[in-house]
Formats: sequence, structure tokens, C-alpha cells
Amino acid sequence: MYGQHPLADTRRIVHAMLTDQVAHFAPRLYIKLTGQTGRGASQESAQQIADYFRHCFDEYFQVLGIEPGQICSYLAGKRILEYGPGDVPGVALLMIAHGASSVVCVDRFPMVSISGLNAEVLGHLMEGLDGEAKARAASCFLKQGDPASGLCEQRIRYLVKPGGLSGLSNAADLIVSRAVLEHVNDLHATFADMRSALCETGVAIHQVDLKSHGLHRSNPLDFLTWPEHWWSWMYGHKGMPNRWRVNRYREALQENSLRTLLLKPTALAEQRDIEDVRPYLAEPFRAVSDSDLSWLGFWLVCDKTTQAQGE
Ligand SMILES: C[S@@+](CC[C@H](N)C(=O)[O-])C[C@H]1O[C@@H](n2cnc3c(N)ncnc32)[C@H](O)[C@@H]1O
Repeated sequence: MYGQHPLADTRRIVHAMLTDQVAHFAPRLYIKLTGQTGRGASQESAQQIADYFRHCFDEYFQVLGIEPGQICSYLAGKRILEYGPGDVPGVALLMIAHGASSVVCVDRFPMVSISGLNAEVLGHLMEGLDGEAKARAASCFLKQGDPASGLCEQRIRYLVKPGGLSGLSNAADLIVSRAVLEHVNDLHATFADMRSALCETGVAIHQVDLKSHGLHRSNPLDFLTWPEHWWSWMYGHKGMPNRWRVNRYREALQENSLRTLLLKPTALAEQRDIEDVRPYLAEPFRAVSDSDLSWLGFWLVCDKTTQAQGE
């Protein structure tokens, strides 16, 4: 817990605050130095990374309740918005291959780079497709089928914007994100952006990881004991977890008149860990119920059906 190991706390504060300044003033340098991909630190082959994106793509449709055989007809002509794609637009490529007309990927950090390994990943994804899907995937690049030639903007547009906000209006039929919302610096602004980007019949689906991302010590929830100001000075510019719990997401949905179609936990903390951490929680988390504190991740599906007001 914060405060129990003053020396270790001080060391961590100094180191994290200095590196946060690098992330603030030189985000490209910070990403280069830390080698961030968005998928953690493990070394992976192009095949493994391609498999990861196939898994992400499939899971969106499982959670939406769309059978594999129906994905192409569901996606036909749809405009997709993806928040925080990481360093490879793998999900975007698969969306286009399966019928989407265009994908906008938006990020707060300049993560995407179609370098050697990442170009290979996109190559693997194309190789795993046949016929029309393969031809559609090939059309995502300036030179047909050649990822190293760069992205064809009519198909996949990559935007790096302050706060990771798309600024789109009524332009997305489907919004997706995975392991992104827990990193956004202003949750309310991201939900407002989502509402504005969604068209009237659009749907948004997000997987959110509320775990510590390696920033806890002995209790999986002890990263919630750091006072808010220290946390933001240490991690505010690095895209580290914003620490908001599921209650804050419910508020953001309500504040932005978004209707919740599904909100389902993917992992739960032990009651013993919650009881141990409770006396030390930082101010923003003290009023969070045990039940909400236990959520360590969730799936969210929402839309902007106006019925939301009356429900
Ligand atoms: C953990 S990575 C996940 C990447 C990818 N979705 C995946 O599953 O591999 C988080 C991503 O969210 C991005 N991100 C952080 N803050 C953001 C914001 N405010 N808006 C949009 N993206 C953001 C990061 O730059 C990164 O691309």
C-alpha cells in the first residue's frame, strides 16, 4: 500500500515523475525508448501477433452475438471507428476484409508504425484470408497488398489527436476498442466523443481491463491507494491506467445519454483483497462499493437510442 514503504515510494515517485516528463514533452521518444506496442512487453512472433488480432476481431462479434457466418453481412458497408489500435492496425484490416467500407483509428499517442515486424503481421493476416476478403484486405495499402507502402486513407485512416478524441460527428456505425478506455485521460470526453461519432443506429463495443497493468505490489488493488495527485504526476502523460472503476463508466454512460446494452465483468477480485485494501484507498475510490471494486475488467456494449432517457 502507498505510505507503508516511504523509501520505496520516494524512489518510485522520483523515477516515475521524471519519465512522465519525457512522455509529456517527447511522446515519440518515450514510445521509442519504452518500445511500447500496446500489447505488453513480451516478445512475440508476427504469427502470434496476427493470431492476437484475429482473436480480438472474433471476440467482438461473439460478444455482439453475431454468428461467424453473419459477420460479412453485418459489416457490409459499415464505417468503423477504433480507439487506440496499438502499433498495428490489425483489427482495422480484418474489418475491411470482412466488408466494412472504412475504418478510422484514433490514438492519443503516435503508436502505429508499419515497420518490418508490423508489416509482417499485416502480411500474415492477409495470408489467412481467401478470395474477396483477401482482395479487400490488399486494398488497404497504397500499393495493393504491400503493407510497407503505407495505409490507403480511403480504407484505414490513422489519426493521432489530443486526448485521443476522433472529433467525428454521426460518422461511425460501429465503434470498437480493446484495453483502451482504462488509459484515456478524460473518460467523460471520450464518451462524449463516442456519442458524437456514433450514427443514430450505431453500436459501440469496448473491452476494458481494470487491472493494475503491473503497477501493484502485493494486493491486486493496492495501486488504488496512491493519492490522485501523485498518480497523475507519475503517470498522467504515459497513458497508464486512469484507475477509474466501473461505477465511473456507468456515470459516463449516463452523462452522455448512452444506453447500456451489456455490461459484464471479465474478472473479479477476491473479497479478502478488497477488505485488506479498503482502509488505505485513495479518496476517489473510498465510496466505491465492494461489488464495483471487485470488477477487474468488463465488456461494454452501448448505443445512443433515445429510449435511454426514459429507462
Ligand atoms: C493497451 S494498448 C491496446 C492496444 C490495442 N487495442 C490492443 O488490443 O493491442 C492501449 C492503446 O490505447 C491508446 N490510448 C491511450 N490513451 C488514449 C486515448 N485517450 N484515446 C485513444 N487511445 C488512447 C494507446 O496509445 C494504445 O494504442
